Amino acid sequence: MTKRTVLITGGAGFVGANLADSLAGDGHTVIVYDALVRPGVARNLAWLQARHPDRIRSIVADIRDAGPLGEAVAEAGAVFHFAAQVAVTTSLTDPRGDAEVNLIGTLNLLEAMRARARPIPLLFASTNKVYGDLPDIALAREGDAHLPVDPTLRARGIGEDRPLDFHTPYGCSKGAADQYVLDYSRSFGLPTAVFRMSCIYGPRQMGTEDQGWVAHFLIRALEGKAITLYGDGAQVRDILHVRDAVAAYRAALTRIDAIAGRAFNLGGGPRNAVSLLQILDHIAALTGRPVERTLQDWRPGDQRYYVSDTRAVTEALSLGSATEWREGVADLAAWLATERGFRSGHAPLAGAAE
Ligand SMILES: NC(=O)c1ccc[n+]([C@@H]2O[C@H](COP(=O)([O-])OP(=O)(O)OC[C@H]3O[C@@H](n4cnc5c(N)ncnc54)[C@H](O)[C@@H]3O)[C@@H](O)[C@H]2O)c1
Repeated sequence: MTKRTVLITGGAGFVGANLADSLAGDGHTVIVYDALVRPGVARNLAWLQARHPDRIRSIVADIRDAGPLGEAVAEAGAVFHFAAQVAVTTSLTDPRGDAEVNLIGTLNLLEAMRARARPIPLLFASTNKVYGDLPDIALAREGDAHLPVDPTLRARGIGEDRPLDFHTPYGCSKGAADQYVLDYSRSFGLPTAVFRMSCIYGPRQMGTEDQGWVAHFLIRALEGKAITLYGDGAQVRDILHVRDAVAAYRAALTRIDAIAGRAFNLGGGPRNAVSLLQILDHIAALTGRPVERTLQDWRPGDQRYYVSDTRAVTEALSLGSATEWREGVADLAAWLATERGFRSGHAPLAGAAE
């Protein structure tokens, strides 16, 4: 059976490149549509092309440019939409640019898909930021972590029934796009589904202070440089290894008829809930030396606690259990050490998986 051609917008980015590698490895032709605006992602594209010379087709173009986007959609049998302005900080300095990429770019994609005679599936990467900074959730500081006082919430995390509360221009642009993607299922019958993602981490992540903080922390630590923590460092996130995110996206495509029109929270869940300070301790153990840090004020929209309730996505997609966070962070540390040649002159990465 011929495998369908898959279009991945933002396919040279961190999540996109991992998904493209998985799909191409499985016999799909993958159209990587990416403007290559994020520093370092051209390396991901070169890596994909070297691994799958016959299966990766690259279109270097902008999601705001409806012409090439429409042509790419016309050739696709399914679409994963990852291209985005990804940083909250950038959205605060350039809200219009952020909206043009994240909202109008998504609308361009939806319109190109609506123009097709037969509908094809669309899976969209949304964000936990659609739920705002959750100011009503009572938290208690326990050791190095802020945790909900409510034991049920602590055990389960935030569900999809949480009211939407867009905060920051990035939250607004991604949240509006999330709603458009769902509505194109309702209004036009497109088979679409949305993943409201928590922090994803793993190989091929070009982490910076503004986005991709697990990789950023590791890069700074491996360079022997200090890390700036915004807030008190006790903020908690449920981190998810990219291999588990890829498994969810692939399962969603297989089951699109059953899940069309739905939004799911996707993260590591309560078992992989960890504070920034706890991650820094783990990184110190991996690199064999403490990580220097400085503290700055909280940034707008920062959630003190966000952990996904993953029961809905796990059930709907029959997902296995997520990679344990210590093991996953060690895996990323090992990849960065090799990729960036950090190993010489530094302490060995204790326990890091090769
Ligand atoms: N990584 C996470 O933790 C996380 C969490 C929540 C949501 N998300 C969402 O998941 C998606 C993928 O995130 P990622 O971490 O892989 O980010 P990434 O920055 O690595 O990938 C995004 C890609 O989009 C491309 N791009 C940016 N603007 C573009 C434009 N105007 N036209 C075409 N391409 C453009 C970039 O060059 C980059 O390759 C994004 O939509 C992001 O908002 C990510």
